Amino acid sequence: MKFGYFDDNNKEYVITTPKTPLPWINYLGCNDFFTLLSNTCGGYTFYKDAKLLRMTRYRYNDTTPDTNGKYFYIKDGDTIWNPGWQPTKTELDSYECRHGIGYSKFTGVKNNIEAALVTFVPADNPVELTKVTLTNKGNAKKDIQLFSYVEWCLWNADDDMKNYQRNLSIGEVEVVDSTIYHKTEYRERRNHYAVYSVNAKIDGFETSRDEFRGAYNGPDKPAAVIEGKLHNTIASGWYPIASHQLNVSLEAGESKTFVFALGYIENAEDDKWEKPGVINKKKANALLAKYQTTEDFDKAFDELCKYWDNLLSKFHIESSDEHVNRMVNIWNQYQCMVTFNMSRSASYYETGIGRGMGFRDSCQDLLGFVHLIPDRARERIIDIASTQFQDGSAYHQYQPLTKKGNSDIGSGFNDDPLWLIAGTSAYIRETGDTSILKEMVPYDNDMSVATTLMEHLKRSFDYIVNHKGPHDLPLIGRADWNDCLNLNCFSEHPGESFQCFGPSEGPVAESVFIAGMFVKYGREYAALAKLLGDTAEEARVLAEVDKMIAAIEKDGWDGEWFVRAYDAYSHKVGSKECDEGQIYIEPQGMCVMAGVGVDNGNAEKALNSVKAKLDTKYGVMILQPAYTRYHLELGEITSYPPGYKENAGIFCHNNPWISIAETCIGRGDRAFEVYKKTCPSYIEDISEIHRTEPYVYSQMVAGADAKFHGEAKNSWLTGTAAWTFTNISQYILGIYPTLEGLSVNPCTPAAFGDFNVTRVYRGVTYNIEIKNPNKVQKGVSSLTVDGVEVQGNVIPFDPSKKVVNVIATMK
Ligand code: BGC
Ligand code: NOJ
Repeated sequence: MKFGYFDDNNKEYVITTPKTPLPWINYLGCNDFFTLLSNTCGGYTFYKDAKLLRMTRYRYNDTTPDTNGKYFYIKDGDTIWNPGWQPTKTELDSYECRHGIGYSKFTGVKNNIEAALVTFVPADNPVELTKVTLTNKGNAKKDIQLFSYVEWCLWNADDDMKNYQRNLSIGEVEVVDSTIYHKTEYRERRNHYAVYSVNAKIDGFETSRDEFRGAYNGPDKPAAVIEGKLHNTIASGWYPIASHQLNVSLEAGESKTFVFALGYIENAEDDKWEKPGVINKKKANALLAKYQTTEDFDKAFDELCKYWDNLLSKFHIESSDEHVNRMVNIWNQYQCMVTFNMSRSASYYETGIGRGMGFRDSCQDLLGFVHLIPDRARERIIDIASTQFQDGSAYHQYQPLTKKGNSDIGSGFNDDPLWLIAGTSAYIRETGDTSILKEMVPYDNDMSVATTLMEHLKRSFDYIVNHKGPHDLPLIGRADWNDCLNLNCFSEHPGESFQCFGPSEGPVAESVFIAGMFVKYGREYAALAKLLGDTAEEARVLAEVDKMIAAIEKDGWDGEWFVRAYDAYSHKVGSKECDEGQIYIEPQGMCVMAGVGVDNGNAEKALNSVKAKLDTKYGVMILQPAYTRYHLELGEITSYPPGYKENAGIFCHNNPWISIAETCIGRGDRAFEVYKKTCPSYIEDISEIHRTEPYVYSQMVAGADAKFHGEAKNSWLTGTAAWTFTNISQYILGIYPTLEGLSVNPCTPAAFGDFNVTRVYRGVTYNIEIKNPNKVQKGVSSLTVDGVEVQGNVIPFDPSKKVVNVIATMK
């Protein structure tokens, strides 16, 4: 069952009922200022950091889901309604929400009044703009009222939810004309405030939530709106809000438009005040002056659309498969940009206060957006590497505002260092910019011990070389990619962190997954050393990689698949010897992607085992059989009920690894089958089962052991976005950036047919036509570049050309 449809021409998903199974959200904002916005106008806004600079309030875990947002109330006689349905939930005569790329549109109609909202954040200013157009569709004049509503968060979202003894006394606001200023804590240690304004003379305002709602009323029954009159209260403490009242007369057929602006302003320390107690509003006025008319709004909206069109045009496919076209050209790339901006911090499943930027997460996200914004990828790599420790290990997370490592979680996730190589290699393959390797980058933000980025990569690699266990496999530490496989934790009491409890570096427990990563990214690091002319380092690294392959073949192979790990007692995890958790997806994907077992048939065996033991109609499960009891020696993974999350859920993130692995052994049919199972557009029809947004990937879908098999959770902020884009664009469609240039080597289903890709790479536009006359799954028999046949798969890079036409014919 569907709750909407894709409008590909407008790059929108059109939601046709507010009663979606879960809130279906969108993200507004490209740089520093972000809004999460649901299909019923719920959500919140923050500047740079969802924890430290939260502008508006949202309540996770509320009894009525998704009740706080930026609302517009319309009072038409005795009827009070919202264009996005919430919070009054007055039945609308018609409703539509269009989530687009960086904007959302809502149209609600009630009793012949149409309210159309368009809302977005311009690419270049810290402000959210909303155009509200009210139209009288009837044939008699109407006098109605429009009320805006936002509830201010007192900046630190964490403290805001806990520290009521202080917070209920600190709220402060100012109001001048149609602008409401939120200035809590500005008198002392803050130099920033927020504004909410409308480009028209108002008929009243409210800044006290209690006055707006009335005692004990919820947001669905605000007393002042029912009364039809705001009380012009200047809030002092308690719950500051911002609401404007506009009395609107509409002749039959008439429309009136208002532009609302919610902005963030920072002043210099010595320029904070206009006069004692009165904030300096110069910057706010300058910002608001830019968006005073509908034309200003439309112009900024147009610019935003062009910004996104330009970004998304960097990779464009035309094929006969509408799902692939839609996901690749629009939604998958868009989700990659959102994960770039948010990492795992702010979504409807991540509160924005728990996690900052993940070291491994951000490195993987980079794989999906580096072709879109290489300059910002460069900056991101330097930021991430700056939190690395001198021995090559890394803080697991850092805070986006301070860019400093998060000491609460610390280090000891032993896969982290290798992801830095993955991200840096992807950046250089994309851009050819080797200068980044010579940048001086600090350790733990201490510039006095800075080295080149290349030295950081060396220390990443050597961290693994120097931390091996009894089978010469890498020590796992607190966990590897699978945060819940905690082999050194042994937590027996609730409230202890599974990851941070116990010794971080058990001397015994080992990870075959990290071993696979070491082979894959070790080789990529070796290639960079070679590129810099350091052949001694290249040889040293490749020798270490060979040793690791030998260790995997000796002790990491279980007969039909790769072992997952060895626990602290040196017992196998993910082996036929285990009673539960006999086979895990991660080492099958990572080892085969690294090429391990491709020559001796083990890769094929491992992938056949995945198909036989882990596959379901909704995707490939992370492990089987599910753990049915808590295993102290395995940690959090066994704490989840069977079928959920890391305990036998379908963890979407590593489904593309299996799909990529299938392309490594040339099975395009199976690679695509795996791709399709979790692909949002392909499963739109089962939205009532899947439940999360049908235009983006979720982190997890419940596995076969779960009560709600097929139900997804944790949409938007997941490494699935980047890895799926890597899979479909680089492996299935086969346009892979190498250090020398773009390589063309698709691995598609036999019946996929011919397709064309436009790819902007290092400033050159490649028009690539792929023909598959004999319906093979893999293999390019001829590659013609601007009419000239070239050998191999790589298009020689020629910066003097602006456009290059390529024809690749599969065998
Ligand atoms: C989740 C993981 C997540 C981790 C982050 C665990 O509870 O299951 O998916 O990565 O927490 O700390
Ligand atoms: C989500 C985390 O963000 C990611 O870093 C981790 O790899 C997966 N969970 C698996 O545990």
